[in-house]
Amino acid sequence: MDTDKKTLYSAVQPSGVPTLGNYLGAIKNFVSLQDEYNCIYSIADLHSLTVKREPKELRSQTVELLALYIACGIDPEKVCLFVQSHVSAHAELTWILNTMTYPGELSRMTQFKDKSRSHADNVNMGLMDYPVLMCSDILLYGTDVVPIGADQKQHLELTRDLAIRFNNRYSPTFTVPEPIIPKTGARIMSLQDPLHKMSKSDDNENAYISMSDDKDAIIRKFKRAVTDSDNVIVCSDDKPGVTNLISIYSVVTGLEVSEVEKKFAGVGYGEFKVAVGEAVAELLCPIRARQKELLADKAYLDGVMIRGAEQANYLANKMLSKVYRKVGLYSPERKK
Ligand code: TYM
Repeated sequence: MDTDKKTLYSAVQPSGVPTLGNYLGAIKNFVSLQDEYNCIYSIADLHSLTVKREPKELRSQTVELLALYIACGIDPEKVCLFVQSHVSAHAELTWILNTMTYPGELSRMTQFKDKSRSHADNVNMGLMDYPVLMCSDILLYGTDVVPIGADQKQHLELTRDLAIRFNNRYSPTFTVPEPIIPKTGARIMSLQDPLHKMSKSDDNENAYISMSDDKDAIIRKFKRAVTDSDNVIVCSDDKPGVTNLISIYSVVTGLEVSEVEKKFAGVGYGEFKVAVGEAVAELLCPIRARQKELLADKAYLDGVMIRGAEQANYLANKMLSKVYRKVGLYSPERKK
């Protein structure tokens, strides 16, 4: 770790195949920030257990997500890349932080309320406690900044509150982290219901672009994207579908939103949707091909995971020991 650089932490859950929303809202920034910060990126497998999982599928999605991170351009030589369950300090710090978190703080979380509705048959304690596990992830590493999409902002606010609460109750221990939320792309919306965010758990496959979709599927889904009947390509609160497509095109091509509006002035929706689909396919298809190549080399991926876990365990255990000492847990002296 370079001591001149600030520390950055973020993670993605291995729950289903990541979407274009995960990529544009988070992973793309993980790549662009990897030189500026000491970066720690995790695969949040413990988080993904908060909904019912098929064990075999969870195992394969964990490796697929690691390969995807690397295929997107994350360099395991530069960053610490690891699987959350390989570092037990995450679960241990969660227990300590649980003793300082109030049920009301967790039950009012938007994501908890949404997931309680969509998984009504399995509203478990983990689903409610999920933000505290996320706080532990972040606080274990003295994290300064956390790149996330807009939907995780509330969880980061809790992280800040808990860090301050702990520091006040004991003594300064945790760094209070700041979010990094992109100006455009922080909330990519569903292609079928642009008032809701694009999500990998959507029942309707046409609602999201999966990182494993091929060119035909990508273009087909964009052609079916819900818009409106104005046929005018401008961003506006009353045009959520078109606004979403403009944001996607802007982040994918690097053009400002105003430049996208200018470029497509007078163009029909049909043509615009194909242009967005083509730009997205051009971005995603090489990533998909590289991910496939990486998945054929399991020994390499296992090696990356093992090395990442060693680095993360070292850093996390240092912080956990400090926390245990501060809260008064007894540690016997070992004879030399
Ligand atoms: P997850 O796996 O749901 O999403 C991973 C990242 O993708 C962003 N994202 C989006 N951004 C824009 N538009 C969308 N439609 C969209 N959907 C998802 C999310 O905001 C997130 O940044 N709890 C986290 C994972 C996590 C984590 C952490 C993140 C665990 N520990 C510590 C940061 C720090 C989650 O479920 O993300």
